[in-house]
Amino acid sequence: MSSQDFVILPGPSSISFARSMAKQMDCDIADLEFKEFPDGENYFRIASEVRGKRVLLVQTLSPPVDHHLVQLLLLAKKLSDTGAFVYAVCPYLGYARQHREYLSGEVVSLKVVGQLMASAGVKRLVTVDIHNVEGLGLFTFPAFSVSAIPFLAEYILSQEDLSEAIIVSPDFGSSARVETFAKLVDRPYCVFEKERDRVTGEVRVKPPPLKLKGATAYIVDDMISTGGTIIKAANVLNEYGVKRVIAVCVHPVLAVNAVERMGKAGVSKLIASNTIETDYSKVDVSKAIVDHLKLLG
Ligand code: R5P
Repeated sequence: MSSQDFVILPGPSSISFARSMAKQMDCDIADLEFKEFPDGENYFRIASEVRGKRVLLVQTLSPPVDHHLVQLLLLAKKLSDTGAFVYAVCPYLGYARQHREYLSGEVVSLKVVGQLMASAGVKRLVTVDIHNVEGLGLFTFPAFSVSAIPFLAEYILSQEDLSEAIIVSPDFGSSARVETFAKLVDRPYCVFEKERDRVTGEVRVKPPPLKLKGATAYIVDDMISTGGTIIKAANVLNEYGVKRVIAVCVHPVLAVNAVERMGKAGVSKLIASNTIETDYSKVDVSKAIVDHLKLLG
């Protein structure tokens, strides 16, 4: 199968990302008429012929997550009813953090998201750096996660002076990702112990025994939402005398004044990928998905 067998439908939350994929794959972009009514409801009309085509419906599930999810479901249903084979391409997969029942009675939200997608006719899912790969097992159709880490590492190698850099994982959950990143940029790394109170959401961080004084610390995480995890790690790093703290993440969710709060905690720069399109999205990682689709053949 060649790239031309695919058609790309850019969902409202991922227009630039979808265009970047289309350019690399040299494939058509389907015409979409879209408007939002004053009450917040969506109107869509797919104006291209998609019957029998493999359609890459590109829609990141960034905030407002539920709104973007409903948009994806509406579009997927129409595409599949029209006879298309629907791939949901969600560069950021909202709800991925709730992939299991941590406390008794909790909704396993990601499982419900997968069921909704299946009932809307989605046949494949591709995302970037899913929070925990266990989440992929909740989907009833093939679901894949590709990594943005090599692209972030390449950007940082080319743009930053790494001579005094140490790479920091703010918790165990990110340690494999951070180890890969540290190897790619060829710098030492350490893993902080983080505990999150699952009821209050409060985060506590314990640093490892490592010489931090005078270093430039790059805290690498899959996502930054409230900034709480980065702030806790930055506070500890600053106590231990680091010269500079830079935050690096795949998914810049950036809820509730996260950027301002991180700035106040001494984070001097934020470098993110474009799975969510923000002012900090310096690294285009659409190639990770394109490469994966090419491999599938
Ligand atoms: C958690 O395990 C994740 O890897 C992130 O560290 C976390 O979700 C970031 O959220 P926040 O910015 O709200 O601390």
